[in-house]
Amino acid sequence: MTTYLVTGTNRGIGYEYCRQLAARGDEVIAVCRQPSSALTDLKVEVIRDIDVADQQAIATLQKTLGNRPIDVLINNAGIYRQSNLDSLNIDGIKEQFEVNAIAPLALTQALLPNLTASADSNGMAKVAIMTSRMGSIEDNTSGGTYGYRMSKTAVSMAGKSLSHDLNSRAIAVAILHPGLVSTDMTNFNSSGISPAESVKGLLKIIDALTLENTGTFWHTNGEVLPW
Ligand SMILES: NC(=O)c1ccc[n+]([C@@H]2O[C@H](COP(=O)([O-])OP(=O)(O)OC[C@H]3O[C@@H](n4cnc5c(N)ncnc54)[C@H](OP(=O)(O)O)[C@@H]3O)[C@@H](O)[C@H]2O)c1
Repeated sequence: MTTYLVTGTNRGIGYEYCRQLAARGDEVIAVCRQPSSALTDLKVEVIRDIDVADQQAIATLQKTLGNRPIDVLINNAGIYRQSNLDSLNIDGIKEQFEVNAIAPLALTQALLPNLTASADSNGMAKVAIMTSRMGSIEDNTSGGTYGYRMSKTAVSMAGKSLSHDLNSRAIAVAILHPGLVSTDMTNFNSSGISPAESVKGLLKIIDALTLENTGTFWHTNGEVLPW
C-alpha cells in the first residue's frame, strides 16, 4: 500500500485527492487546519491544526509522523488573494508567498527523513507541488494578479531545484497545474473542470513520475507547460 500525505484537504482539489486515493485503496494522511464533515466522512487518517505556513505547526507534524515513511507528499494547500496594479495588496502578496511558495519548500524539507525512508525501502519516493499556469512567465499574456502569479512562479522554481537536489536521494518531483477547476478558490467558476476530472489527470501524472521525467511542469491533461 502506498502512503500519500496531502495538504489542504478539507475541500476542493485536496479533498478530491484524498477521496480518489482512498477509493483506490491507498493509505492517506490528510493534513488540514480544520477538517470538513466531507473529509471526516472519508474515514481517512486526518492530522488537523496544521497551518502549513506556521513553522511550529510543521514541527508538530514532524513529531506526529516520527520516522514513518511517506511515499508521496502532495503539497496542495494554497491561497488566492486579489492584487492588481491599482491595489497591490502588499500584505496579500506576502501571505501568498508564505503559503504558496515558502510552505511547500519548508514542508518538503521537514519531511525529507520520511520521504528518504520510503525511497530507501521502495527505491523511490515522490513529491508533487501544486503550482499554477498563472505562474508561467511565458504563458502570461494578460498581466495582473501579481501576488498569486509571483508566488506560483516561485514555487515552480522551488520544485525545479528540489528535482535536482533530491535526484540522488531517489525522490522525484512533479510540478503540477490542475487546470481551471471549479472550487472555492475560483468561486466555482462555471468554465472550470470538476475536481474529480482534475485529480484523475493529476494522479495519472504522479503515478507515471520517475527520476527521468522529474522536474517537469505538467498540465493535468498531460501537456508539458512552458516555464
Ligand atoms: N482551482 C483552480 O482552478 C486552481 C488552478 C491552479 C492552481 N490551483 C492550486 O491548487 C491548489 C488547491 O486549490 P483549490 O482550488 O482546491 O483551492 P481551495 O478550494 O481554496 O482549497 C485550498 C485548500 O488549501 C487550504 N489552505 C489554505 N491556506 C492554508 C494554510 N495556511 N495552511 C493549511 N491549509 C491551507 C485550505 O484550507 P482552509 O479551509 O484551512 O483555508 C483548503 O483546504 C492550490 O495550491 C491552488 O493554488 C488551483
